[in-house]
Amino acid sequence: MASSRVISLLSILLLYITIAQGRKTLYTSNDFSASSLDPNDGICKTMVETQGYICEEHKVTTEDGYILSVQRLPASRSGVKANKPPVLIQHGLFCDAVIWLFNSPDESLGFILADSGFDVWLVNGRGTKYSTMHTSLSPNDKAYWDWSWDELASYDLPASVQYVYNNTGQKMHYAGHSQGTLMAFATLSQGQLLNMLRSAALLSPIAHMNQISSKETKLGADLFLANDIYWLGIREFSPIEDVGAKFLDGICHTLNLNCANLMAFFTGPNCCINSSRIDFYLEHEPQPSSTKNLIHFSQMIRTGNIAKYDYDDQAQNVQHYGQRVPPTYDLTKIPNDFPLFLGYGGKDQLSDVQDVKVLLNDLQDHDANKLVLEFNQDYAHADFIMSVSAKQDVYDPMIAFFNNQ
Ligand SMILES: *[C@@H]1O[C@H](CO)[C@@H](O)[C@H](O)[C@H]1NC(C)=O
Ligand SMILES: *[C@@H]1O[C@H](CO)[C@@H](O)[C@H](O)[C@H]1NC(C)=O
Repeated sequence: MASSRVISLLSILLLYITIAQGRKTLYTSNDFSASSLDPNDGICKTMVETQGYICEEHKVTTEDGYILSVQRLPASRSGVKANKPPVLIQHGLFCDAVIWLFNSPDESLGFILADSGFDVWLVNGRGTKYSTMHTSLSPNDKAYWDWSWDELASYDLPASVQYVYNNTGQKMHYAGHSQGTLMAFATLSQGQLLNMLRSAALLSPIAHMNQISSKETKLGADLFLANDIYWLGIREFSPIEDVGAKFLDGICHTLNLNCANLMAFFTGPNCCINSSRIDFYLEHEPQPSSTKNLIHFSQMIRTGNIAKYDYDDQAQNVQHYGQRVPPTYDLTKIPNDFPLFLGYGGKDQLSDVQDVKVLLNDLQDHDANKLVLEFNQDYAHADFIMSVSAKQDVYDPMIAFFNNQ
């Protein structure tokens, strides 16, 4: 269908535009540390306490020096202390923890879990608004942005899980959306963190990405890789929005598309987002990511593989991995008895149903009673985090799953 191809293209374009916007914000602001350090300006004060919940601000330092901001909701709205295990919640690409608190407390996963008795921990990935600190680097350093989701899986996730485990002495449930599911797949497939995790609930799972390779998406990914925007932007610190804008113009022109209204991405196929809140969402999201991360996603779209970042240079791959091609993540290695909940949608253009089928094929030997599938025909990518009916549609079944473990 032409329209669905356009939507996939738009979603890819959105990725590029967002990176351009993210850069613009970053490189014109000298004020990273002030805003991320001032607790009066943090997520607890601005998004959680305003709704009547207790909230603690935490900082987690990863092994490679990134200082992540983490919020804890240790009690329900009525102040009753959590009597269930911790849940660590990990947002997706271009989001941060605010995404779990955006809607009303009866609609937002962060609040719903706290009200259901869980000890809620929300992580903000490296490079997002509240996690711009580093032990030695600043976001103005090109080295600060030298990572992709490989590092999110091998540094951010272990550090946050270990931190919650240290603070609570308890094994936790994990909930992730989009890129947050890929981080879990990568980690679990290597047998890591299993001693600290009870289960994982993965919404809009991102694993294999072949099927979103419509002609247009593929062209976008190829052009992106060919343009080497990464090196351009990083090396020159040029206002990358110019580079990004030119790049997008090129794609739109080549495909003869009117790319003026990208907001269609947000409103488009999502069934259940409150359209009167879109401006409010856009005040805070999208959050920046690294261009290297986008190149990594483009590689996945082009190849369909779940592999480490490809330096596209045998010598560099050997230097990083001891082999000429990047090692793959083998999802069949996820232990068969590890409890998994997968929520996926019939209209999701990034976590395509056909791609989820490939993922389910990887999981075909999983113990049947340890794999819960929650399919919603009407749901698209953002519905899993922003739908006004997500509680009934997804979160209640997820909570039932947690309670059963
Ligand atoms: C967790 O505790 C261990 C042992 O005390 C300590 O070595 C480690 O640094 C802690 N990690 C985090 C992330 O708090
Ligand atoms: C949609 O958003 C508006 C504006 O914030 C709000 O007043 C309304 O209650 C929301 N509707 C639902 C169903 O959440």
